[in-house]
Amino acid sequence: MKQMILITVLLIGYVRPEFIPGCSFYNGQCSYTVQLGHQGQCNLPTTAQNPSDFPTTVQPPTTCCTNLQTDIADLRSLVAGLTNDLKLLKDNYNVLENETNELNTTTSNKDDLLQLLQTKEAEFNKTHDQIAAVLQQASAEIHRLRDELVATTRQLNNCRGTLGLQSGTATVAPVLDASINMTFCDFQTSSESCGFNTNRKTGYSWKSHSGSINSLTGPIEDHTYGSQKGVYMYMDTDNSPYGDHVIRTYRMESNLISPAAAVCVRFWYNMNGKDIRTLNIYAKIGNGDGYPVWTQSGNQGQRWSLGEVSLDSEYTASHFKIVVEGTTDSYHTSYNHYNEHGDIAFDDFYIYNTSCNSE
Ligand SMILES: *[C@@H]1O[C@H](CO)[C@@H](O)[C@H](O)[C@H]1NC(C)=O
Ligand SMILES: *[C@@H]1O[C@H](CO)[C@@H](O)[C@H](O)[C@H]1NC(C)=O
Ligand SMILES: *[C@@H]1O[C@H](CO)[C@@H](O)[C@H](O)[C@H]1NC(C)=O
Ligand SMILES: *[C@@H]1O[C@H](CO)[C@@H](O)[C@H](O)[C@H]1NC(C)=O
Ligand SMILES: *[C@@H]1O[C@H](CO)[C@@H](O)[C@H](O)[C@H]1NC(C)=O
Repeated sequence: MKQMILITVLLIGYVRPEFIPGCSFYNGQCSYTVQLGHQGQCNLPTTAQNPSDFPTTVQPPTTCCTNLQTDIADLRSLVAGLTNDLKLLKDNYNVLENETNELNTTTSNKDDLLQLLQTKEAEFNKTHDQIAAVLQQASAEIHRLRDELVATTRQLNNCRGTLGLQSGTATVAPVLDASINMTFCDFQTSSESCGFNTNRKTGYSWKSHSGSINSLTGPIEDHTYGSQKGVYMYMDTDNSPYGDHVIRTYRMESNLISPAAAVCVRFWYNMNGKDIRTLNIYAKIGNGDGYPVWTQSGNQGQRWSLGEVSLDSEYTASHFKIVVEGTTDSYHTSYNHYNEHGDIAFDDFYIYNTSCNSE
């Protein structure tokens, strides 16, 4: 720049060899024109080339340019400071924006997670329901198979009965698992062969019988073979006390049953007759009957029904007996037997050393 001015001056032939640009003073004011070189200096009227340019009476302050430059420097540093502040603000803004973005991301992540959690919960619920359904199906299927097995066993027994293949021992074992010990009594020979004790010293006991008793009480045939020749146990209420309307109890007790984690007791019963009261099954430990573990009351019609009860270790931890107890309040008058219809019958007694559900 300085050289350019120099060249221009030389070309037009106007020579001002000591031109020092800077501020000029008019009316005591410093008029800033061109500032080239001479940092921090101000031209004084005495050193100016053409003193007539300035009113000599007014002495301008020697520091004005310095002040100006200081002001400019101050302004520059202010601007620099502001620029810096602006940068900081911008950075802060960016940080804030990033944080907002992160927050938005986190929020949407949270929503996604909640959504996922709900989906998983729904899946879990579905699986849970499916498992429950499968279990229920399996359980129903097991029950169906067991009923089928019992029915098949009965058919087989009928077949044996028809063929005259009588058996006093348990030969037909409706059991699904070979590791399960099952004892079975069809009462074909005598109650004693199954270990049932019917020799009560006091009170009434059960007897064995074949065929029907009469049209108003008892079954028409046994359960094992479904035959008039097949044998079952029953409560004989013929010769009930005269005119006595008191409940009488008929009992028989099994042999001792071996301890097991659980025991399933299964039997067929027939409760046909208007004077029938209750059939109770007890698990007798020592000399105590305790409460019945199974009970059925009232006239159930002429069909045989399956009764079963699972006994847990409360009963089966040590040796115990099964007690079969029927009650009736039948009585007779001298004119007819109308009030002697209390003959409960009992047949096909099974004991498994496992609970009924797992057998
Ligand atoms: C903001 O986030 C972007 C990308 O996520 C990153 O490149 C940038 O450095 C972040 N800025 C600040 C100020 O944290
Ligand atoms: C954050 O989410 C809100 C609501 O969805 C939206 O209005 C805002 O623009 C988002 N901010 C950023 C930085 O994405
Ligand atoms: C899952 O099952 C529970 C309990 O039945 C219920 O409270 C919940 O709303 C179910 N969840 C879904 C997602 O269906
Ligand atoms: C049942 O008895 C049999 C024969 O004593 C035995 O092998 C089996 O382990 C018993 N099962 C159970 C479930 O107690
Ligand atoms: C099977 O159970 C009966 C009755 O509890 C028991 O008398 C018999 O000893 C058991 N048999 C075996 C092999 O455990």
